[in-house]
Amino acid sequence: MDEKGMKIQWYPGHMTKTRRMIADQMKHMDAVCEILDARIPLSSRNPDVEELTADKPRLIVLNRTDLADPAATKRWASYFRGCGFAVLEVNAKAGQGTGKFPSAVRELLADKLAFYAEKGQAGRMIRVMILGIPNVGKSTFINKVAKRKTAKAEDRPGVTRSKQWVPVDQSLELLDTPGMLWPKFEDPAVGERLACTGAVRDEILDLEELASHLMAYLGEHYPQALLERYKTAVEPDDTGWTLLEKAGRKRGFVVRGGEVDTERMARILLDEFRGGKLGRFTLELPEDIADE
Ligand code: G4P
Repeated sequence: MDEKGMKIQWYPGHMTKTRRMIADQMKHMDAVCEILDARIPLSSRNPDVEELTADKPRLIVLNRTDLADPAATKRWASYFRGCGFAVLEVNAKAGQGTGKFPSAVRELLADKLAFYAEKGQAGRMIRVMILGIPNVGKSTFINKVAKRKTAKAEDRPGVTRSKQWVPVDQSLELLDTPGMLWPKFEDPAVGERLACTGAVRDEILDLEELASHLMAYLGEHYPQALLERYKTAVEPDDTGWTLLEKAGRKRGFVVRGGEVDTERMARILLDEFRGGKLGRFTLELPEDIADE
């Protein structure tokens, strides 16, 4: 996505505390499950997680697959598998794919479980930490996996209060992210992708600029969607701004003097994109990694 000039500030203030809390709990974990937004799997990853979890068996959940480009999700899944992660493709809201979680964890830990069984400890509790940035779908995922309506806190001796232990079955339990794992971005393009998906708040953004960058990306990668939804054909010299204007004009958002109300169109575009009304899109691909 175009990186011109957008500066999104984030608040990394709590990260030191969160890092410490995650590191403290890590020794109690058998595995780590990182939940990512399938539309922006890299931008929704906190880079600290890589280092904090490097010596644990890891599973990546690509969530919100209902909103992501299905072909791109497949490519991301094979990319992460190639990096040594187990991967699940999930729509946590509808509970699609969540049922595979317990068997995926047990497969990931097969060697360890075989070792326990040899020692006569079959059925020993497996603990998995769920990690993810705010709003990525952690509670929705945990509730579906644990088949409960709300994730309820349980106190356990030996662990700090307020830790969220959630039982899944007799020998599997989950720990919700201790602390707030904010996304991290020095790169403005990462901030923009987070903003497009609604992961950062609107009031800190220039909506028209954000929408014009989104339009440029959609015009390049998904022109058919713009044609279908906004009756806007993408011409070779169109920019994000001209596409925003064209779509606004088609929608009839014209103000005095014949100008297009691009702010109104920007809001519509972002709402429809976030709500999945425009289609299913992925904003970054594994092959983009080398370019950044
Ligand atoms: P968090 O714990 O990581 O902060 O995220 P949470 O589960 O609260 O999910 C944030 C929002 O994302 C919720 O929407 C939730 O329904 C939605 N969500 C989670 N997983 C998926 C998914 O796979 N697909 C889609 N489309 N949405 C998902 P909300 O608007 O806050 O609540 P609600 O309107 O769904 O009740």
